[in-house]
Amino acid sequence: MLNNDQLDRWDRENFFHPSTHLADFARGDAPNRIITGGEGVHITDRDGNRLLDAFAGLYCVNVGYGRPEISEAIAKQAKELAYYHAYVGHGTEASITLAKMVLDRAPDHMSKVYFGLSGSDANETNIKLVWYYNNILGRPAKKKIISRWRGYHGSGLMTGSLTGLELFHKKFDLPLSQVIHTEAPYYYRRENLDMTEADFVAHCVAELEALIDREGADTIAAFIGEPALGTGGLVPPPEGYWAAIQKVLDKHDILLIADEVVTGFGRLGSMFGSEHYGMKPDLITIAKGLTSAYAPLSGSIVSDKMWQVLEQGTDENGPIGHGWTYSAHPIGAAAGVANLKLIDDLNLVENAGRVGGYFKAALKSALGDHAHVGEVRGEGLLCAVEFVKDAEKRTFFDASEKVGPSIAAALLKEGVIGRAMPQGDILGFAPPFCVTEAEADEIAQKTAKAVRAILD
Ligand SMILES: Cc1ncc(COP(=O)(O)O)c(C=O)c1O
Repeated sequence: MLNNDQLDRWDRENFFHPSTHLADFARGDAPNRIITGGEGVHITDRDGNRLLDAFAGLYCVNVGYGRPEISEAIAKQAKELAYYHAYVGHGTEASITLAKMVLDRAPDHMSKVYFGLSGSDANETNIKLVWYYNNILGRPAKKKIISRWRGYHGSGLMTGSLTGLELFHKKFDLPLSQVIHTEAPYYYRRENLDMTEADFVAHCVAELEALIDREGADTIAAFIGEPALGTGGLVPPPEGYWAAIQKVLDKHDILLIADEVVTGFGRLGSMFGSEHYGMKPDLITIAKGLTSAYAPLSGSIVSDKMWQVLEQGTDENGPIGHGWTYSAHPIGAAAGVANLKLIDDLNLVENAGRVGGYFKAALKSALGDHAHVGEVRGEGLLCAVEFVKDAEKRTFFDASEKVGPSIAAALLKEGVIGRAMPQGDILGFAPPFCVTEAEADEIAQKTAKAVRAILD
């Protein structure tokens, strides 16, 4: 066992942490936290703190920490066969079973699932499939992808481009030229405060139509969106948004990619966000909730319509030139099978919907009339509180005041982990699906205390 100070030194000297202020961390000016264990909705750190993780890691440990059903399935798979590849028709019982389980849960018009490792690589796969599809159909110019400002789709070259957050573009020479962005479906942040929600949906549609007109529908291949915005602010779409967008896409023969990395497998209280909002995607991205992050695994679920063309493509061109060494990794697949089974056995999707509604109401009653709370919003177990300088005038704090991060830090002192979302003063919550009403109350009460400590 390493002594703690040595671990701290090694951490700062050797470890390049993602999404971290590198210089502050190396200098020792930013804290590190070394996590040692977890059970249910709680994690423990090396200093002996027990914290209620109200963001489920990075909204991924959906079944909660420390589930022996999943760790034992992983151990069994590792002993029997830790690895074999999935190229040229190879598979394992776990990967084949998981593919069947995913398709059984996906919307009826979906046909096959390709397994990757992360949400980012799954979206990378999706864009390649979209381009391949249009090339096979003889439409080589139909290639641009429309994403939304504040969308989050990963941080690779293409996926970082799809992501509509400044921090992920600045100094990285992104976005790539094939990606164009349109209005975020974020009613609370609408420019014109006089707009009703229906006006705002019409405005989003008009913006999309104008973009398609400007670029030419024959140059646009696909539209990608999270059913409810995640990292960009945890924002459920305004009423009627997806039906209206879908109509525009259908009219211009533009494919729809539903990025369900966060919403897939229950977070909104439905198995998929696509089902929750009546979307009809051509591709669905899955990751996090597929294994509850017990092992890395992601997937691209492909519709019947696209699958037919992919088959035609390999008849004309030979085997699909796409794959990773670790595609459908047996350990990830075994974790996925055990995880989806556990979600069913414990009725966790229903729990996410029920406790999610309770949690939003608890946050509203604890915070709703605070002068600096602009909005409390959520769907299922995806909730957020947005802080403003003046709620009536809806003016925002300057980012330099670090209001969101300060409240998250004060909440941590209370023993609860919420997430200061990267753009705006937004405190996000996405607890494991096994969270109870009593724990939801605890999060709401402690959040109110943290808010008072910083803003009163
Ligand atoms: C909606 C969405 N898509 C894609 C990703 C990227 O997934 P990963 O971090 O596994 O690459 C994320 C990660 O948070 C996400 O929220």
